Amino acid sequence: MKNKINIAIDGPAAAGKSTISKRVAEQLSYIYIDTGAMYRAITLLYIENGKDIINNLSDFEITFKREDSNRVLLNNRDVTDEIRSQDVTGKVSEVSSFEAVRSYLVEMQQKIGIEKGVVMDGRDIGTTVLPDAELKIFMQASPRVRAERRLLEEKERGNAIDLDQLTSQIIRRDELDMNREISPLVQADDAVLLDTTELSIEEVEEHILHLAQQKIGVE
Ligand code: C5P
Repeated sequence: MKNKINIAIDGPAAAGKSTISKRVAEQLSYIYIDTGAMYRAITLLYIENGKDIINNLSDFEITFKREDSNRVLLNNRDVTDEIRSQDVTGKVSEVSSFEAVRSYLVEMQQKIGIEKGVVMDGRDIGTTVLPDAELKIFMQASPRVRAERRLLEEKERGNAIDLDQLTSQIIRRDELDMNREISPLVQADDAVLLDTTELSIEEVEEHILHLAQQKIGVE
């Protein structure tokens, strides 16, 4: 059997990380982990319970129901749809900057990576969570293209939001993520930079699979 590798996919908001990561994981029969969903689940807790919840994070477990399109469970409660609300999106970068939140989730994510065969997307996967990942991608795209892609997703979810609103929300979230003190959004030195502005989903997927096969071949 071929050796398994870990693949870290980082980049700013709505760069297409989750769509691509899911497809790459499926092709390789790897596990896909959406770390943004974990930060969103903690943000939902924070909104519902107030800031003291940050001191009790060990009471909460976040799991993915793989057999059911990766539904997100927070202590067995299905929060898949709620974590995509505008309330959560507006607050998530603030909550993600808390030291207690990061250390709790990074530890959880590192445990998942031990077995290898994981495609993990986020902001600090290549730098902090899986610094030894065999393949690291930093996915970029222009803010306008990212907002247009996100607009389509929001429409499919039935959310009414306009393009200008989405563009400024994305830019603000990136600024907070890039400028926080602990594990900010930054390209790892050994990450491959991939600008997807002009590329189709299929082209990006193919490119990453090609890089992955090269790594799997030599590991
Ligand atoms: O990936 P997504 O856009 O759903 O992530 C939501 C937010 O979670 C990001 O804007 C960022 O603030 C936070 N996040 C993070 N570190 C990660 C993944 C997400 O800080 N590894």
